[in-house]
Amino acid sequence: MENVALENRVFNPPAEITENANAKADIYELAQKDRIGFWDTQAKELVTWVEPYDKVLDDSKAPFYKWFVNGKLNLSYNCIDRHAKSDRRNKAAILYESEIGRQVCLTYGMLYREVNKFANALASLGVKKGDRVALYMPMIPEAAIAMLACTRIGAPHSLVFGGFSPESLRDRINDCQAKVLITSDGNFRRGKPFALKNNADKALEDAPSIEKCVVVKNAGNDVDFVEGRDVWYHELMAKAGSYYEPEVMDAEDMLFILYTSGTTGKPKGVVHTTGGYLVQTQATLKYVFDIKEDDVYWCTADIGWITGHSYVVYAPLALGATTFMYDGTIDYPAKDRLWDMAERYGVTKFYTAPTAIRTFMKWGTEFPKSHDLSAIKILGSVGEPINPEAWMWYREHIGGGQAPIMDTWWQTETGAFMCTPLPGITALKPGTATVPFPGIELDIVDENKNSADVGYLVVKSPWPSMLRTIYGDDDRYVETYWKRFGDFYFAGDGAKRDELGYIWVTGRVDDVLNVSGHRLGTAEVESALVECEEVAEAAVVGKKHDVKGEAVCAFVILKDGFEANSELIDKLRKHVGVKIGPIARPDDIIFTGGLPKTRSGKIMRRLLRDIAEGRAIGDVTTLADPGAMQEIASQYSGKED
Ligand code: PRX
Repeated sequence: MENVALENRVFNPPAEITENANAKADIYELAQKDRIGFWDTQAKELVTWVEPYDKVLDDSKAPFYKWFVNGKLNLSYNCIDRHAKSDRRNKAAILYESEIGRQVCLTYGMLYREVNKFANALASLGVKKGDRVALYMPMIPEAAIAMLACTRIGAPHSLVFGGFSPESLRDRINDCQAKVLITSDGNFRRGKPFALKNNADKALEDAPSIEKCVVVKNAGNDVDFVEGRDVWYHELMAKAGSYYEPEVMDAEDMLFILYTSGTTGKPKGVVHTTGGYLVQTQATLKYVFDIKEDDVYWCTADIGWITGHSYVVYAPLALGATTFMYDGTIDYPAKDRLWDMAERYGVTKFYTAPTAIRTFMKWGTEFPKSHDLSAIKILGSVGEPINPEAWMWYREHIGGGQAPIMDTWWQTETGAFMCTPLPGITALKPGTATVPFPGIELDIVDENKNSADVGYLVVKSPWPSMLRTIYGDDDRYVETYWKRFGDFYFAGDGAKRDELGYIWVTGRVDDVLNVSGHRLGTAEVESALVECEEVAEAAVVGKKHDVKGEAVCAFVILKDGFEANSELIDKLRKHVGVKIGPIARPDDIIFTGGLPKTRSGKIMRRLLRDIAEGRAIGDVTTLADPGAMQEIASQYSGKED
């Protein structure tokens, strides 16, 4: 074993997991034989329908697929009522801890009451089925309550990550014409309040569709209140009725919109619907994390991202599990904060991102070592490819040398896991998301759509939790995902296959960056840069980074008369941070006189990446001006780090 390269090591599933696993040995075979039948079984087992569906899949208007046709249900009913009315009534649904140590435990019975009241509160503000509600919130239980209350009414929510800027929030509100914004005074970051409401106020200066802004008192910091528009959450709750009849929704009614970065400057509002989403998120969590009645399951993602939607809130609650939420920084007050909580709450399943794992590795093993993590049975990874070294470290130091790691490949658009091992069945190799989930058909294809061992990752047939469109832009939906390979969904990722047939996702092949597991469009950063009066043109690429995975690197051409200096670098960086959010701030800004372009004017980002990562410059023969590269390279080598 010692001499085997890390990525070629094979780890068999632990016998004690295999013996009692939710997924039985024949799951792949059953799904292979009858894919639609497999999803039919899942839908019948996992969802409480108000009215049954007539048909599992309607593919007559591809790529506008419909799942569980004419089925009727309510999502909040499935996540709460059915548990609150069972023996799970007094089971913890949400366990929460804030950075400053506030603890909350909401049982299913308590969560049921809170959600019903908040649904009434929203209704009192005029929110009806079909209205869009924007959320800009910290990781507090009220965020989950608000999401569930929206689904009870049938009002699609649009969460905007709390780290996004006022402008990003404004654009997202305006795109979906949200009627109400739910936010909070603030939350704690390294012990100090972060004033979220101030950002919300700035966004609302130019968001005319918003009629009311509900504010959760959380950090206790001062906030400005706009008369007639702003209202405290606790005041609404104090007078809200205790029961709200769940709206009967069609399986294909819109559940939520979640904006994500694409290849243009304008984020895409990914639309998910109700029935298929509830089926696949539950089936995947049940089998991949092998959810059991006594689990304390912790997914560290923020609710502002798809992972937070699917695997902090909806799937765990629908399964009647206990989901843990933490709002705060991972090294406050000390670098063992997460392990301290994992021990205190007895966490059994832990799901995080490679960028966090690499940070823990850097800090050293003494932090996890100082805690008893022996309750952890299964680990998970998501957001970017996990490097084999980080995989091994994770297994050894967090998983006690034996917990299997579920490397789950999926996207905002896929809604739920697509490529992932199953803990009691799949032999693992460090760094690969292994095989498609049962009932999912993935392949790797070349330019001509032929199956290949290296190429583009595609989904060959529709799946229940797939996005249904881009909000307000069906053409963009078709163009982005269904143009390149016709009836195969194009994920935007490159991949390769190994001798076991395992899929290794190698990263984005389009103009999308993945910084600390967060998606960013190069065009978004470029358009922020060219807004600055000094900038004539900008090109942004990703550069390998040992913690973040990728860092933003910008090549900038200045207008005549402006001087390239360190103050300008600071200014441009700051502007991008204000415009998009701190995660988008470039690590490097390189001033240059020209950019490498093809004769048709397309920027050759591949060449810029060569420069940013210090490699020899690749093939320049297709460039309009091959000499341009030498100049840029010399500018770059002179750059101060
Ligand atoms: O490039 C892939 C990467 O993250 C992208 C999706 O980003 P987003 O929609 O923000 O969703 C992130 C959480 C699901 C993918 O196109 N990605 C996600 N998971 C993995 C991954 N790359 C490799 N391995 C993974 N497990």
